[in-house]
Amino acid sequence: MPVTELAETYGTPSFLLDVADLRARAARYRDAFVGAFAPLGVGVDVYYASKAFLSTAVARWVHAEGLRIDTAAHGELATAIAAGIPGADIGLHGNNKSAAEIRLALGHGVGRIVIDSLPEIELVGSIAAELGVRAPVMVRVTTGVHAGGHEFIATAHEDQKFGLSLASGAALEALERIHADDRLDLLGLHSHIGSQILDPAGFGEAARALLGLRAEFADRTGVLLPEVDLGGGFGIAYVPGEEGVDVAALAADLAGLLAAEAEALGTTLPRLSFEPGRAIVGPTMITLYTVGTVKPVVLDDGGSRLYVAVDGGMSDNIRTALYDADYHAELGSRASTAPAVTARVVGKHCESGDIVVRNVLLPADIDAGDLLAVPATGAYGRSMASNYNLIPRAGVVAVADGQAREIVRRETIEDVLALDMG
Ligand code: LLP
Repeated sequence: MPVTELAETYGTPSFLLDVADLRARAARYRDAFVGAFAPLGVGVDVYYASKAFLSTAVARWVHAEGLRIDTAAHGELATAIAAGIPGADIGLHGNNKSAAEIRLALGHGVGRIVIDSLPEIELVGSIAAELGVRAPVMVRVTTGVHAGGHEFIATAHEDQKFGLSLASGAALEALERIHADDRLDLLGLHSHIGSQILDPAGFGEAARALLGLRAEFADRTGVLLPEVDLGGGFGIAYVPGEEGVDVAALAADLAGLLAAEAEALGTTLPRLSFEPGRAIVGPTMITLYTVGTVKPVVLDDGGSRLYVAVDGGMSDNIRTALYDADYHAELGSRASTAPAVTARVVGKHCESGDIVVRNVLLPADIDAGDLLAVPATGAYGRSMASNYNLIPRAGVVAVADGQAREIVRRETIEDVLALDMG
């Protein structure tokens, strides 16, 4: 569908989601992992890490492609439930889960809660007892593997808030406590090493560490834990020339590595799971903006840069400011034969760090009223959107078979004012 038409109907800024692409990516991840491990007789579940972006429609689309839904807070869990996802196909994460979140999860019969600290064992146990259920749990292990694009999104080194340390013995202690607790059903081990990972070596390292811990736990207790989750973090391309993770190759490599490791340890492999978020939804959306003020700026080195301001910014894409993330932009509403100039796409917020695309070549005649499209904004764009400067948040428009539909409504000034209690 022409973006001009979508802009006219839904306004800008808007996130535009390609439904067929989303479903194809979900299916590709499922097929790659299931296919690679099937010859080893190892089952695989793929959970969609819904923090990347969730709405009830998205939950239903990825679930229809065979993915389960991983949630990390009340709103994600409530949205998955509202989408009609069966409890058994939902997981709950979080380093500081509230009693209300745990109660909602167990009340809905979620397939697993991933334990992230020692005190949480008692909290989940007591709520399970209160509800008269046995809580299925995994233990999130800090493996010491360092991976991921930016310090803020690497999650398995020691000095950060997630998980229970393998090195300090906290992970083993958690396993033993849970094993001894009748209120809890210990499913297995979990590790998430980071996000936007382009070098897949870390997954193998983490897997080896978890299989080692599993073997140690089996030696102590005689129990061989049935499941291991290797988390998400599969990197995608953001700018032309970049390449995302090849999931089929990664899955095949991991299958070989894990088979060899299990043989060396003299055990069988557990059921596996993965939690891709970005790789499923990231490339499926573009953000469509309308260009406003265009301003040439002379640089210290004598060069120049065209500042192209759009009608959104850090409120719909905080990733550039927060992680120094790279994005690309293209003129969306017309062809131009003007020469390309060095440009920076900025937002309309009141700070100079409000940058959407740091460096991009755009036609010199770009001007107010043009539509600008920024690709690969599906993950952690709308989901980390804010109301900074009390700007209403952008909506999400899903496009399928030549038809468009808003799946998350654009906020209005009335929505923003409705929260103000005077
Ligand atoms: N599983 C767990 C336990 C996680 O913590 C995460 C991401 C994922 C799965 C999914 O990771 P993905 O496949 O999407 O990389 N806001 C940051 C990313 C933070 C991710 C946090 N956890 C960003 O915009 O890059």
